[in-house]
Amino acid sequence: SNEQIALFTIFGGTGDLAQRKLYPSLFRLYRKGYLKEHFAVIGTARREWSDEYYRDIVSQSIASFKPTEDELVQFTSHFYYQSHNVTDTEHYTNLKKLADNLDTRYDLKQNRIFYLAMAPNFFGTITSHLKSENIVTEKGFNHLIIEKPFGTDFESANNLNNEIREAFEEEQIFRIDHYLGKEMIQNISAIRFGNNIFESLWNNKYIDNIQITLAESLGVEERGGYYDTSGALKDMIQNHTMQVVSLLAMEPPAIFTEKNIREEKVKALNSIRIYSEDEVKENFVRGQYGAGELDGKTFIPYREEINVNPESETETFVAGKLMVDNFRWRGVPFYVRSGKQLTEKGTRINIVFKPTPINVFRSENETACEAETMPPNVLTIYIQPTEGFSLTMNGKEIGDGFNIDPIKLDYRHSAEALDNSPEAYEKLILDCLKGDGTNFSHWDEVAQSWRIVDVIRKTWDNETPDFPNYASGTMGPKAAFDLLEQDGFNWVWTPDEWYRKQG
Ligand code: BG6
Repeated sequence: SNEQIALFTIFGGTGDLAQRKLYPSLFRLYRKGYLKEHFAVIGTARREWSDEYYRDIVSQSIASFKPTEDELVQFTSHFYYQSHNVTDTEHYTNLKKLADNLDTRYDLKQNRIFYLAMAPNFFGTITSHLKSENIVTEKGFNHLIIEKPFGTDFESANNLNNEIREAFEEEQIFRIDHYLGKEMIQNISAIRFGNNIFESLWNNKYIDNIQITLAESLGVEERGGYYDTSGALKDMIQNHTMQVVSLLAMEPPAIFTEKNIREEKVKALNSIRIYSEDEVKENFVRGQYGAGELDGKTFIPYREEINVNPESETETFVAGKLMVDNFRWRGVPFYVRSGKQLTEKGTRINIVFKPTPINVFRSENETACEAETMPPNVLTIYIQPTEGFSLTMNGKEIGDGFNIDPIKLDYRHSAEALDNSPEAYEKLILDCLKGDGTNFSHWDEVAQSWRIVDVIRKTWDNETPDFPNYASGTMGPKAAFDLLEQDGFNWVWTPDEWYRKQG
C-alpha cells in the first residue's frame, strides 16, 4: 500500500498558508490513499480554539473539493488543536502529551513532521524546544518543514541554520521553495536529460542567452507589511529564480537522485559570478510600480498600498544578468526578471539559440556580413499559467517563392490533465513523508544564493532609487529592456495565446 504514516504538527495552524495550501494538500493526499488510518494532525497557534472549531476551519478550507459528509467527518477526525505559545517551555509539555497520545491512538510509529508555517523569528526557539522537550522522537523519523524566508541575507540565514542544526540534521530539514514543486520546473530536468537534441546543444557553443521571467499581474495585495521589508530581490530572485537557474545550468547528474542533483546544483551556483558593486550597477536594475491602467482596470501605485511606507524605496521589480563562469556557460548571459503588477501573470523560460552562422537566404546584393541573421530558434518552457513547451524554428512559407518564416511547435498540458495533477504543496508534502529532499532547497544552495544576492542588496541600499519608475500594467522599467539591448538582444515575449484559449 501507498499509505504514509506520520503525525503532523503544524505551527501556524490557524494561519493563511495552512488554510489555503496545507489542509487542501493533506486532503488530496487522503483522497489518494497516501494518508489513511495512520496519520494525525496537531494544529498549534496562540489562539484558543477547540478541536471542533479547528475541524470546522479545516472543513471550510477543503470545501471546494466537495467532500461527502462521511469523508469530511472521517478526515477531520484526525485533526487536533493545541493552543501554544512558542516561547513558553511549559506549553511544549502539553504538546508532547498530545503527540504521544496520538502516536499510540493512531499507531504512528513515532514518525513526525514538524511544519513551521509561520513568521521565521521563532524558528530557532521552536526547534530547540522540540529537541529539549523530547517531542522529537527516538524511533521514527523526524522531518522539519520550513517556509521561507530563510534569513534576510547570508549572515542571518547562516545564524538561523546554525540554530536549527542544533536540533535537526540537514537530512531532516525540508526547506520549502514551492517553485520546486511545480510540474514544469521539475520538467526542466526531463527536457534536458531526456532529449539528446537539447542536451547536446545545451552550452555556450549553441545558446546565445537564457531568459527567465517570473511575472505577476497582481500587486502586493494584503501582504504589504511583509513585502515592504523584503522586496522582489529577496522575495523572488534569491530563492525561486536562483533555483531555476541552477536547474538550467547544472551538469547532468550521474543518476537522478537527491544527493547527485544537489551536488550538481551547488556546483552550478558556485560558478555564478559574484559581482562587485560597480558590476551590480551595470548588470542589475530595480523598479517600483506607479499608478497604471490595463484593460480598463486602474491600479494604485505601490506607495499607496496598505501597510506600505508612503515613501517606500522597496523594489517591486528586478531585472538582471547573471553569468555562469564555467566551461559550459562562459559568455552566455542568464537574464532574469521578476515583478509585480506587470502586464500578465507569466512564468517562462526562453532558451535562445544562436542563429545560423550565415544567412544563405539573403539577397544576392548583400554580403554574408551585411545580411540580417536568421531568427533564432527558441525553446520556451511555459511554467504558468499554462504548462508546456514550444520550439520556434524557421520553415519555408507556404506558396510561391522562397520566404523563410518562423513557425512554432507548441505543446501544452490540457486543462483536464492539469486539474488532476497534484499541486506544488501536495507533491512536496508527499516527498517529505517519503523522506525525499530532492525538491527542497538545501543549505549549500541557500547559502550561495544569498552570497550572490547580498552584494546587489548592499549596492542598492547605498543609493536612493528614483521610484516609482514603471507604470502598473507594463513589463517594467525601460532600464530592464536596455539591459538586453546593450548586448544586442531582446526579451523574447508574446502574450500566452493558450491562456486566452483555455480561459
Ligand atoms: C512567493 C512570494 O514566494 O511566490 C510572493 O512571496 C509571490 O510574493 C509568489 O506572489 C508567487 O508564486 P506563484 O506560485 O504564484 O508564482
